[in-house]
Amino acid sequence: MDVMDAIYGRRSIRKYTNQEISQADLEAILEAGTMAPSAMNLQQWHFVMVRDKALIEESREIMSKVFDTFKPVLTERFSKHPHIVHETGDFMKTLGGAPAFLLAFISRPDYNNSLPALSGVCAGIENMLLAAYEKGIGSCWLTAPITAHMESEFERRFAPGKGRFVAFVTFGYPDEDPPVPPRRSGKYEIL
Ligand SMILES: Cc1cc2nc3c(=O)[nH]c(=O)nc-3n(C[C@H](O)[C@H](O)[C@H](O)COP(=O)(O)O)c2cc1C
Repeated sequence: MDVMDAIYGRRSIRKYTNQEISQADLEAILEAGTMAPSAMNLQQWHFVMVRDKALIEESREIMSKVFDTFKPVLTERFSKHPHIVHETGDFMKTLGGAPAFLLAFISRPDYNNSLPALSGVCAGIENMLLAAYEKGIGSCWLTAPITAHMESEFERRFAPGKGRFVAFVTFGYPDEDPPVPPRRSGKYEIL
């Protein structure tokens, strides 16, 4: 697949079929994450892919609580589009039926300037979204647990002592084909 096709074709998917993702595909997605650039080549990420049903259920319960806390922020941001609040609630309470999800952590929170460290982790996440898309696998990147100040629940459960929570990313075969959310103009310039 052409890289530009992947960049323009990828969408956040919030509804998945129940088809499992193969171990080989999950490993290939994780490997793509580790091929991202990182500041001083520190590779300061720790990625945890979860496919175990009991762990998915446990996370779904945490994410339901996250939504209850996050809802006022979302309601304010989308005051003119209440259906988005409703749909996001459905997604977070069910994880869209995703058969797998990824937890991304910064493994070097002590690094004296953590913005470069965070940038590397995010580059890895984007690589994984695009690698998944190339395989027909959809994804959605979530940071709502941070907005709800509940990220420590994931740190304690999935990576104790290994890092700081950066993102939760669902993966699965899409059961929806959402339109492109409009992009704002005037967001770049060439000098
Ligand atoms: C850092 C980050 C955090 C996000 N957090 C959430 C989230 O908590 N819940 C959610 O449903 N979508 C979340 N998204 C997905 C965005 O809503 C989505 O990327 C945006 O609406 C543009 O849509 P697109 O990904 O289909 O281009 C997040 C995306 C990013 C990059």
